[in-house]
Amino acid sequence: MNLPFKIDLKDKVAVVTGAGGAICAGFAKALAECGAKIAVLDLNKAAADAVAEEINATGGYAIGVEANVLQIESLQNAKKIVNEKLGTCDILINGAGGNHPKGTTTKDYLFKEDLENKKEDVVTLFDLDPKGIEFVFNLNFLGTLLPTQIFVKDMIDKKDAVILNISSMNAFTPLTRIPAYSGAKAAISNFTQWLAVHLSKVEVRVNAIAPGFFIGNQNRGLLMNADGTYTERAQKILAATPMDRFGELDELIGTLLWLVDSKASGFVNGVVVPVDGGFSAYSGV
Ligand SMILES: NC(=O)c1ccc[n+]([C@@H]2O[C@H](COP(=O)([O-])OP(=O)(O)OC[C@H]3O[C@@H](n4cnc5c(N)ncnc54)[C@H](O)[C@@H]3O)[C@@H](O)[C@H]2O)c1
Repeated sequence: MNLPFKIDLKDKVAVVTGAGGAICAGFAKALAECGAKIAVLDLNKAAADAVAEEINATGGYAIGVEANVLQIESLQNAKKIVNEKLGTCDILINGAGGNHPKGTTTKDYLFKEDLENKKEDVVTLFDLDPKGIEFVFNLNFLGTLLPTQIFVKDMIDKKDAVILNISSMNAFTPLTRIPAYSGAKAAISNFTQWLAVHLSKVEVRVNAIAPGFFIGNQNRGLLMNADGTYTERAQKILAATPMDRFGELDELIGTLLWLVDSKASGFVNGVVVPVDGGFSAYSGV
């Protein structure tokens, strides 16, 4: 991986949840290149192991650990493995998260005709499934809070301990169609501030990255047509992105390293940093 710059994470242990996925696999690799020992946590053990193997094959040190960020016992078990094999946690990246189709409408706006002549494939506010909404809120919000409860015990009164949460563009202004995901990420931004205050006396810094639009497994179907052209939604996103393009995952790494390195960001606490090509700054006019 081509790092924008290196920081010194020698002897540090980093726990990265959702690290079998697109963004946090990159985060895990970047932290490993800076010398940290990495616990690659994911619900998908095969994905976690594959990322750990890649790190080990390139001279780093990582283990894949199966963990469900929604189950305390699973997280306790993961912590036991991490503590035995790597040591106590210095850096926690809460990366597991995502959306669910059942928390998503099919159109941006509610039209009267969709109520009067209801079509099977049209999902409006009234068809949103509470179970789908619950899934999204749990995965993102509880999935950040529970790993924090478990791993922060290692971090209390450690030097340079740090937590990084993953918020999103939709936390600043909700995106159309995805009320559950937008609300859940807004909750993560809010929790980031709360936690930064709550943990300030035990010297654990807490910040978040809010990625803009990066094409990954979660959203590829929404953004790309089968023939490789952009969908209507992708074109709308690009029209609202002053830099006229989607982000490259590597473009998140500089912000990750800055927020993790206490020499660089030691007095930065409780912030949510957008990395979005100007999307959140642009009013559309
Ligand atoms: N891709 C984007 O453009 C984008 C933009 C903004 C925010 N985000 C956020 O960044 C984070 C990573 O996104 P990504 O694009 O890499 O997603 P991804 O789907 O590639 O990865 C998510 C990973 O989380 C794991 N996971 C799911 N449920 C889990 C659970 N209960 N316990 C443990 N692991 C679980 C999955 O197995 C997967 O490996 C998410 O929080 C996402 O909401 C992504």
